[in-house]
Amino acid sequence: MIVTHFSTFPARLNVGIVGATGLVGSMMLALLAERAFPIASLRLFASARSAGKPVSFGGQDILVEDAATADFSGLDIVFFSAGGSTSRGLAPRVAAAGAIVIDNSSAWRSDPDVPLVVAEVNPHALDIIPKGIVANPNCTTMAAMPVLKPLHRAAGLKRLIASTYQAVSGGGMEGVEILQDQIARGADGCAALAQQGDAVDLGEARKWTVPIGFNVVPLNYVLGEEGYTEEELKLRDESRKILELPDLAVSGTCVRVPVFTGHALSLNLQFERPLSAEQALGLLGQAPGVVVTEVPNPLDATGKDPVFVGRVRRDPTVAHGLALFVVGDNLRKGAALNAVQIAEVLVSREKARQAA
Ligand code: A2P
Repeated sequence: MIVTHFSTFPARLNVGIVGATGLVGSMMLALLAERAFPIASLRLFASARSAGKPVSFGGQDILVEDAATADFSGLDIVFFSAGGSTSRGLAPRVAAAGAIVIDNSSAWRSDPDVPLVVAEVNPHALDIIPKGIVANPNCTTMAAMPVLKPLHRAAGLKRLIASTYQAVSGGGMEGVEILQDQIARGADGCAALAQQGDAVDLGEARKWTVPIGFNVVPLNYVLGEEGYTEEELKLRDESRKILELPDLAVSGTCVRVPVFTGHALSLNLQFERPLSAEQALGLLGQAPGVVVTEVPNPLDATGKDPVFVGRVRRDPTVAHGLALFVVGDNLRKGAALNAVQIAEVLVSREKARQAA
């Protein structure tokens, strides 16, 4: 069992990013620079399609390596954001070569030997990293966790009903391109659509079940168990694991909307004990990584680190109920930022251990 790899953890680290040419990988690069992460060396990996492509970091060009053929030895931390199948195949190999893997895909999240961590919420889960792999939660679940944790601590969360409004960038570069394309195709037909209800030709539905442009998609990816989509099941299972509430009652409806960045969630919560809207606002005002605001919305949240919460009010339909609205930048806190924060927690813990 790997408790930590870091017995020889240096002051500056040898860092890798698998999926460095993607949306989340690019954001990881930007955040490593922005947050002055202590880097000794940086290697970038993607598919064979991108091998040899230069990517700029800190004024230098780094050539992308083909992840399938690369030698991963000598790396301390490797971020992965290249899809589930790449992570499933490659992450154990990279961990065996001596690095801690911080994986943004869904591949390892439900593995009991892989901590699933939101940096402000359950950093203690990093105490033991049995496989050398840490999982970064799904971007939708992530936005809710910094809000739910302090409320749960105060009143005991019993039930979570979530309806989401998810941005297309959660589906990577391809999602963004599809929305851009459909907006361009539909722009001319918009007036007709509004005035006469005429259909607009957006081309074939791609990636999602129906076109995303000028629309909402309530069947977000594939169906899993009991009529819930995989995205909705991730929300249930990951919330339970992160909050350490295996019996939490969860029902989610995950909806893709024509927004480029920023996932929003309408949450109805039920607690074991009374918690007024005023008390909840007081707790949220103090919560790390959370900003209370009157009208949380994706445009304002884009490019920002915290999650934004507002519309906090009593849900009168259940005992001890609250309703609220949460928005977070799905590429930042929802993916790249939390991954970098996990690395920062590991670094600071190791520093503290070495100093003791
Ligand atoms: P590439 O650009 O070479 O296809 P996004 O989610 O924004 O679409 O990005 C996905 C990222 O994952 C890209 O960097 C992509 O690289 C990378 N990727 C996709 N398939 C693989 C693979 N089989 N091995 C390594 N990286 C991959």
